[in-house]
Amino acid sequence: MKKLVVGNWKMYGNPAMAKALAVSVAQKSGSFPEVEVVLCPPHVLLAQLRQWLVGSKVALGAQDCHGEVEGAFTGDVSAPMLRETGCSYVIVGHSERRAAYRETDEIVRKKAEAAITSGLCPIICVGETLSEREQGKAEDVVGQQVMASVPDMARATGGAKSNFVLAYEPVWAIGSGKIPTMDDIAQMHAYIVSVASRRTGCAPEAVAVLYGGSVKASNARDIMSANGVSGVLVGGASLKEDEFCSIIAAVK
Ligand code: PGA
Repeated sequence: MKKLVVGNWKMYGNPAMAKALAVSVAQKSGSFPEVEVVLCPPHVLLAQLRQWLVGSKVALGAQDCHGEVEGAFTGDVSAPMLRETGCSYVIVGHSERRAAYRETDEIVRKKAEAAITSGLCPIICVGETLSEREQGKAEDVVGQQVMASVPDMARATGGAKSNFVLAYEPVWAIGSGKIPTMDDIAQMHAYIVSVASRRTGCAPEAVAVLYGGSVKASNARDIMSANGVSGVLVGGASLKEDEFCSIIAAVK
């Protein structure tokens, strides 16, 4: 299974910065063919980024999609539209969307379904809050999210034919500079793999789970060494060219 490094730009960026970053990441990631690199800029930058990435192995991803193919949904973007714009991936169920837009597991599952149907690979995010962890409920919460957010049509083959990826992102680790211990990461990843394998009927070793939350160049190697980590989902550090390229190098 190829390792995955996904840059989630969130609501940051402009054409000048995007071009500089994309061109540099495209060039430098060429030295690491064993790593699949995905850039997820805001929707308005996708079409331009696609052009700047031509000829490189860097894939394009979006940060969200709607669960319907089209319709009267002002402000939304559908999975087929993203596919036509050149995306191969889409992040769904990020905790910022679950919290700010009250996205339920059911909504997330519909989005993941729309993505798969449209030929996109959804990166389905799950993760517990600090209070849930402190109350000893982390596995219950995350297990429930996996069961209810992963669609019936999800298939993991351990290779390029897998049609979904999971991302474990503890809410309290996002943007905070705090990360779980490597043992905690390994334990949660093993648990997510077991639940996802039960949910989909796929072999546990075929299920890919990324880690996300305060990933930096200085901790990426350690995080990748934890059992069951198939790659990283990077927020803040994906906006800094040197930092992001160092993460790719550390993950290889
Ligand atoms: P962070 O964000 O790397 O800035 O913590 C990760 C994410 O939200 O996906």
